[in-house]
Amino acid sequence: KILIVANWKCNPTTLLEAKRLFQTVSKTASRILKIQIVVCPPFVYLPIMRQVGKGAIKLGAQDCFWEQNGAFTGEVSPKMLKDIGCSYVIVGHSERRRYFNETDEQINKKIKAVLKSRLNPLICIGETIEQKKHGQTPKVLRHQLESALKGIDRKAIKKIIVAYEPVWAIGTGIACLPEEAQSAGLYIRKLLTEKYNRRTADLIPVLYGGSVNANNATNYIKEAKLQGLLVGGASLNPKEFLSIIRSVSLL
Ligand code: 13P
Repeated sequence: KILIVANWKCNPTTLLEAKRLFQTVSKTASRILKIQIVVCPPFVYLPIMRQVGKGAIKLGAQDCFWEQNGAFTGEVSPKMLKDIGCSYVIVGHSERRRYFNETDEQINKKIKAVLKSRLNPLICIGETIEQKKHGQTPKVLRHQLESALKGIDRKAIKKIIVAYEPVWAIGTGIACLPEEAQSAGLYIRKLLTEKYNRRTADLIPVLYGGSVNANNATNYIKEAKLQGLLVGGASLNPKEFLSIIRSVSLL
């Protein structure tokens, strides 16, 4: 199944809007069987989304802590997310790396905690515009993926999902060319093959994220041959998001 993941980020600001958005998407999702839709709302909306949805949409969190419980004011653990019915957790998003100084080491700890709770980590990696200009994309992807997966064995790896999200494409309207997304996807698969083996690497979905909209969505599946999409801004507009889903479902 193709995965289409909505990352709502820090939106919307009212529960009423969140419910409306989720319900609209949920109605369509239940009719489209070849796509797995995952919605990642802010933490506070998660349990309520579970109640309003029809079960066709899986839920994801946008982050989590690496311990399961304890004296860590403000944190939310994978165990709690599992308990309220979450299936996925986005880990290492560039906005968290950038605004909250998340390190590769912390990201690795979070991924391990997510796997321990039997949730699927959606690991985000991608280069900045400066790194791209200097031809450092492969080096950055290698470094981010290797440190994210440090100490994670072949058995656990089957639950992971990797998202290639070039930082320069996020929220800029400058989407990555399908050829670039394809070569990043192939490189990620090569890295996974080196670390594990070909069969294991082939089981791991690689998604694309960064200014995905209804006009370019199919390019990443059809031309770049990736296994799904991570959608930010466009996932807040039900018309646009549903049209992304429909266009991919028609492939
Ligand atoms: P945009 O789709 O708004 O560019 O955001 C992408 C993203 O960061 C998804 O995680």
